[in-house]
Amino acid sequence: MRVLVIGGGGREHALAWKLAQSKDAEQVFVAPGNAGTAREAGMRNVPIAATDIEALLEFAKSEGIDLTVVGPEDPLAAGLVDRFEAEGCRVLGPRREAARLESSKGFSKDFMARHGIPTACYERFTDFDQACRYLSGQTAPIVVKADGLAAGKGVVVAASIAEAEQAASAMLQEAQFKEAGRAIVIEEYLEGQEASFICLVDGTDVVSLATSQDHKARDDGNRGPNTGGMGAYSPTPLITPDLHRRVLEEVIQPTVQGLASEGTGYRGFLYAGLMLDSGRNPKVLEYNCRFGDPETQPIMLRLDSDLLDLCFAATEGRLNETAPKWDPCPTLGVVLAIRDYPGGYPKGIPITGLDKAEEEADVKVFHAGTTMDNGQAVTNGGRVLCVCAKGDTLALSKEKAYRTVEKIQFEGKFCRSDIGAAALAA
Ligand code: AMP
Ligand code: GLY
Repeated sequence: MRVLVIGGGGREHALAWKLAQSKDAEQVFVAPGNAGTAREAGMRNVPIAATDIEALLEFAKSEGIDLTVVGPEDPLAAGLVDRFEAEGCRVLGPRREAARLESSKGFSKDFMARHGIPTACYERFTDFDQACRYLSGQTAPIVVKADGLAAGKGVVVAASIAEAEQAASAMLQEAQFKEAGRAIVIEEYLEGQEASFICLVDGTDVVSLATSQDHKARDDGNRGPNTGGMGAYSPTPLITPDLHRRVLEEVIQPTVQGLASEGTGYRGFLYAGLMLDSGRNPKVLEYNCRFGDPETQPIMLRLDSDLLDLCFAATEGRLNETAPKWDPCPTLGVVLAIRDYPGGYPKGIPITGLDKAEEEADVKVFHAGTTMDNGQAVTNGGRVLCVCAKGDTLALSKEKAYRTVEKIQFEGKFCRSDIGAAALAA
């Protein structure tokens, strides 16, 4: 089978890497891909942007692509799946309407309210004065969210009402996030521990994937600015079997059934970002209509089943026939970023040491913000690589991953030193 993976980050490198191992995979194309996917056997980069839906469709048709797997949220929110399906092209991902779970926070909050899915109390606003009147009756901390997609930057956890007003003003009055900030959600601040819950959905049935834990803050000890994720490990002890069952029953199934009952079947990866309170009760912080990045990387390193089979089954509504197998050995991935991430950062910095980095068994370096420049891998984004390792214990995976981190060099290289530490201390 000929497979097209859309996207160019660490998530897409990991998905393409696993798809290419399938017994049925003849060739895996990645659009646009990165320096990592450019170097893999059986994989080819295609220089088309992930949001250029018409060019991607043209490519899929002319190359006889049997399955397209969409990595990032932007093309999903822009209706890539609707376009591909209309042209008879098989594609894995939610349609535009279902992708609103991620592309409109207001939609997702109202949806959860309609279906009794646990989440923080909230109000929606488009008018700044009304938002301020509401805020004056609230207490801090309080959370202000831009309605639309803002690359993970549209959420402000405000420590005071004044800060919340400032955030609302930046979004509603100063158009800081353009269209995405023309409407906002103001919601109750939830305390607790965060966990990601990721599954694959075929419209009706759900297969939950291995559990994982992201590290969203940039700096050690969960300090510093919020990022896309600085590292992840799988499994996480936070999601006990009992909690796993509860999340399926209280969050995932009502979500899938709720969408289906509203005529918007969900097909593709579905990610619920959860806050667990002191009694371990889950509430949804957000939905993502895609796989997590960097959670995908350690999860793919544990998958012992054929990913192409699973993805194909999801597009055919046959997930009930599948049962993915997971390597019991824990995996851990450390993101190597550029020092100034998530602020502005330079591009084009040469990366060295990659050739020797994967010499140890069960080590995999997934590329994210990289590209090839005259045969040399150079940086092309804030999160550059995700160095993953598998070991008999989480402690051994961590040691191995950090040993590998030392072998790779680029100017401004930065990573957290405590990925997995909370699970190891628990
Ligand atoms: P989101 O994009 O909605 O997941 O928000 C990004 C991050 O902001 C989350 O991972 C949390 O760390 C934090 N956050 C979002 N909503 C809340 C909330 N209601 N209470 C506390 N923290 C939140
Ligand atoms: N790692 C969080 C996300 O993918 O949104």
